Amino acid sequence: MPNFHTSTLKKLSYPCTFGETTFVYEAHSARGNILVMASMGGEPMLIRIHPKKEGGFLVKGDKVTRPTQASFLQKVLIDFRDASEAKEIFSNIEPKKFLHVKPSPFLKEINFFANDFRVEREIWVEIGFGSGRHLLHQAKKNPHIQFIGLEIHKPSIEQVVKQCELQKIENILVVDYDARLFMEFLPSNVVGRIFVHFPVPWDKKPHRRVFSAAFIEEALRVLHVKGTLELRTDSPAYFEFSFSQMMQLFKAEISVKKNAELEITSKYEDRWRKMEKDIYDVVLTNEIDSQEITRLGTLCFEERVDFSKIRNAFKEELLRGDGFFVHFEELFEIDDTNGLIRLSFGANERNEKCYLCIHNGMISYLPNAILATKSNVAAHNLMKEWFNGICH
Ligand SMILES: C[S@@+](CC[C@H](N)C(=O)[O-])C[C@H]1O[C@@H](n2cnc3c(N)ncnc32)[C@H](O)[C@@H]1O
Repeated sequence: MPNFHTSTLKKLSYPCTFGETTFVYEAHSARGNILVMASMGGEPMLIRIHPKKEGGFLVKGDKVTRPTQASFLQKVLIDFRDASEAKEIFSNIEPKKFLHVKPSPFLKEINFFANDFRVEREIWVEIGFGSGRHLLHQAKKNPHIQFIGLEIHKPSIEQVVKQCELQKIENILVVDYDARLFMEFLPSNVVGRIFVHFPVPWDKKPHRRVFSAAFIEEALRVLHVKGTLELRTDSPAYFEFSFSQMMQLFKAEISVKKNAELEITSKYEDRWRKMEKDIYDVVLTNEIDSQEITRLGTLCFEERVDFSKIRNAFKEELLRGDGFFVHFEELFEIDDTNGLIRLSFGANERNEKCYLCIHNGMISYLPNAILATKSNVAAHNLMKEWFNGICH
């Protein structure tokens, strides 16, 4: 994150414009932290100011409102430094370090699947593709299929996106998203195959496994009739666990193989084979046409609230529900009627970090397009109850 340290900062009078940036307001927390709302090129972003124990300030961009181009944030910080006549002690915001992210047509943000993705051909999904050997092989062999590759390990994602570009493979979309939560972004009955090859076994923390009853249920919904959910693993515990989860279905077609050969082996598979480990395949075939689901919308608050009551009642607080949570982290006051709350919330596996802006009694999210996934809706409802309890 671009940042600078300074010994002094002159207070700005808001709103004001300096260089290409408009500085809209400043907000203060009880811990002494300051947020400055800035805007450049139509994009709102927050700057955080932390007073340092030894004197002076650390000024940096806020991760939550990260702009589309890192260079925007660097420019905003340069404008803020100059407007507030800061005396830099350390800085990494100079133009020579401007970063330009080159978007890749193969790498998609999750919002793409919520808003723009259209099913034009059969989809096959690979979960945790790792080095991507299997995904790339299948995509080249099946050019009529749209592949979606899910991974959470950034170097693997970069490597596979690069391979798609180099090898001009145009039927793969890569997503950096937790596979346990991704299926709800897909329509029903559109997927032919879901590959889960050598998932992390999590023998000591089974709740972290990709496979669960809820995951199997969502997988069956997105699979068309005769579509398959295919697990390949070297872990007897994972095999038994997944098999028993499938057997709990009222009706199921399940096939099991031991030490079957595939056309392509992954790095993990090569390693296990050298160690002469057994490999298990469990394939669940979907037999049911599922109901359509409505497209995911975004979350919003309708009820009015009273910022002064919220400010008086606020304390850092963690609320938990079944599989989801809301963590109210810090409250920032702009004036008596306006402020922001920094919070994280959503599924235990993957949380959203954002601000709630309270402006003239209305609450909005910043960034504003928070997707209405099941866990986010549940957490949002918990927040609404929390606000209700304080304000009404
Ligand atoms: C043991 S590696 C196997 C990689 C590859 N399938 C292979 O056979 O070589 C497991 C991979 O799953 C990824 N992974 C783990 N949990 C995941 C999740 N919840 N969603 C998506 N990917 C996940 C990890 O980052 C890792 O790359």
